[in-house]
Amino acid sequence: MMKMKQKRGSSTVMNWITAFVVFFIFFLIHHISINTKISINNSSSSASTLTMSTKNYQGIITSQPIYLKIIQKQPTYEEHNQSKPKPNQFIINCDTSHHRYDLCALNSTTTLDPTNSTIYVWDPQTSSLTILHKIRPYPRKWENFTMARIKELTIVTTSTQIGCQIQHQAPALVFSAGGYTGNLFHDFNDGFIPLFVTIRSAFPSGAFPILVVSKCQEWWLRKYAELLRQFSPYPIISLDNDSRTHCFPSTTTIGLISHGYMTINPTLLPNSDSFLDFRMLVGSAYDSTKTSHQASSTSSGRPRLVLASRKGGSRVILNQAEVVLLAKEVGFEVSLFEPSEHTSLKQAYKLINSSHVMVGVHGAALTHSLFLRPNKSILIQVVPIGIDWLAETCFGKSARDMGLEYMEYKIIANESSLMDKYGEDHLVLKDPKAVMKDNWSNTKDIYLNDQSVRVDLVRFRRYLKSAYNKAKGFMDEL
Ligand SMILES: *[C@@H]1O[C@H](CO)[C@@H](O)[C@H](O)[C@H]1NC(C)=O
Ligand SMILES: *[C@@H]1O[C@H](CO)[C@@H](O)[C@H](O)[C@H]1NC(C)=O
Ligand SMILES: *[C@@H]1O[C@H](CO)[C@@H](O)[C@H](O)[C@H]1NC(C)=O
Ligand SMILES: *[C@@H]1O[C@H](CO)[C@@H](O)[C@H](O)[C@H]1NC(C)=O
Ligand SMILES: *[C@@H]1O[C@H](CO)[C@@H](O)[C@H](O)[C@H]1NC(C)=O
Ligand SMILES: *[C@@H]1O[C@H](CO)[C@@H](O)[C@H](O)[C@H]1NC(C)=O
Ligand SMILES: *[C@@H]1O[C@H](CO)[C@@H](O)[C@H](O)[C@H]1NC(C)=O
Ligand SMILES: *[C@@H]1O[C@H](CO)[C@@H](O)[C@H](O)[C@H]1NC(C)=O
Ligand SMILES: *[C@@H]1O[C@H](CO)[C@@H](O)[C@H](O)[C@H]1NC(C)=O
Ligand SMILES: *[C@@H]1O[C@H](CO)[C@@H](O)[C@H](O)[C@H]1NC(C)=O
Ligand SMILES: *[C@@H]1O[C@H](CO)[C@@H](O)[C@H](O)[C@H]1NC(C)=O
Repeated sequence: MMKMKQKRGSSTVMNWITAFVVFFIFFLIHHISINTKISINNSSSSASTLTMSTKNYQGIITSQPIYLKIIQKQPTYEEHNQSKPKPNQFIINCDTSHHRYDLCALNSTTTLDPTNSTIYVWDPQTSSLTILHKIRPYPRKWENFTMARIKELTIVTTSTQIGCQIQHQAPALVFSAGGYTGNLFHDFNDGFIPLFVTIRSAFPSGAFPILVVSKCQEWWLRKYAELLRQFSPYPIISLDNDSRTHCFPSTTTIGLISHGYMTINPTLLPNSDSFLDFRMLVGSAYDSTKTSHQASSTSSGRPRLVLASRKGGSRVILNQAEVVLLAKEVGFEVSLFEPSEHTSLKQAYKLINSSHVMVGVHGAALTHSLFLRPNKSILIQVVPIGIDWLAETCFGKSARDMGLEYMEYKIIANESSLMDKYGEDHLVLKDPKAVMKDNWSNTKDIYLNDQSVRVDLVRFRRYLKSAYNKAKGFMDEL
């Protein structure tokens, strides 16, 4: 047996957290290049115009130029030092007490210089240009490895109001779409859910911020155009490609708040927004008024089951063809859903929002369960050996939180490909927790990336039958 690093009581929790982290690292990241143009209109003489357009997303801001007033003389910076006067609490509020994220709220006029990621905060009481904070606006603060790749912003106070080339009328929200962005689960878990939480926290009145985003790659802007428009009607300002200075009126927020994995805690939000509210926002993004064909009726009149299929590698259903036949036999119309990084979310939404059941083995593709209709559909997560906690944390809890019927099909030893490899008496099957406890890379190497599933058709039929009856019930309610 390997040595245990943690103290007793807390070790199980720590073990699971670490296992989870390892799991995420494994999802890594497809950088897709898409030939969409982002043009930043450069007119330094008269009116300034910032245009950013992608296929689905266009916007324009025009304003009179205001030039940097005091940048000519070389400013002196002083690192924050305890002997200096404290910054004005009413102006700068940086909260670094959270395990998952840092957040700064600037309650004054600010000027952003994207060329060196510096935000100047006007504070008439400050004596000179003072570097007050450095912050990396991505909610995985506990992962040094990830955070090292997130662009850092510097917050500097200034007693003189600094001018800019583009004057905005709306407040700014600054964050990073770097890190694990590129994996659907992370795009939501570390991106859109925290974005929702942060906006509902910082702008409870419903005001829209201007999004200032680092690593906002073109594929991301395009893939999530409809969703991004729900968060802000303004063109997004790229922290990486823009060389103009921007002024914002009072209230600039830097960072994203996370309440945990795939979760929203209504008691921490001023208007008690919940995970269901997040699902509703997703609906607003994709429920176009034009496509108002009756979604819930399939052509056959039978309930539709979507089978989220994983390709290649691990956690595939080895007898998928038989499972499809079984589902048809039980009474479903079956759609195979094989998402890739190129899958259009609009198309995916259309399919899943009009389905009654989603079935899939634990994996990022189940993030599409966000598209199932609350109160009217069922998620069946097939859970391989050893990843119960991940299954519950990533998709079980969120499914219940948005009002889905949630069913878990936990496989037993003889349904796992690990049985073929190790034999039924091996510790890998007899006591997964003991195996993972001793060495984290085992969770990843054995249970996540080297395990597939051969579903027991007799047992699985009972789950499908039950889902079918529930789906029929939902259909009859209409
Ligand atoms: C730049 O902005 C000006 C003024 O709004 C406009 O006339 C011009 O067409 C724009 N140029 C480009 C390349 O967008
Ligand atoms: C913007 O305009 C200035 C002055 O006209 C010019 O020097 C600079 O190269 C332009 N930048 C871009 C990105 O077009
Ligand atoms: C603050 O500055 C003083 C002198 O400028 C220095 O002696 C002291 O160590 C500094 N304190 C911190 C916490 O950096
Ligand atoms: C923002 O500043 C104003 C004064 O300029 C103050 O009245 C207000 O309480 C501040 N808000 C916050 C959240 O600190
Ligand atoms: C950021 O860039 C501006 C303009 O080049 C420069 O004046 C300023 O010193 C830089 N700020 C920091 C904190 O390096
Ligand atoms: C992560 O970085 C922080 C601050 O640099 C440091 O205190 C901490 O020990 C690091 N943690 C790990 C696990 O390396
Ligand atoms: C803007 O920066 C992102 C990286 O942050 C890069 O992927 C993209 O190609 C850049 N776009 C342009 C037009 O330079
Ligand atoms: C999603 O389902 C709801 C409820 O049935 C429906 O009103 C909406 O039109 C559907 N959206 C799409 C894009 O099919
Ligand atoms: C789902 O049902 C609950 C309780 O019956 C109800 O409060 C909620 O509004 C429903 N949600 C939707 C989206 O229909
Ligand atoms: C797997 O094990 C279960 C329970 O022991 C048993 O009912 C089932 O027949 C087994 N399946 C196969 C294919 O051996
Ligand atoms: C974990 O297991 C892997 C291979 O099974 C091994 O290479 C590694 O050294 C182990 N790590 C620890 C901390 O025991």
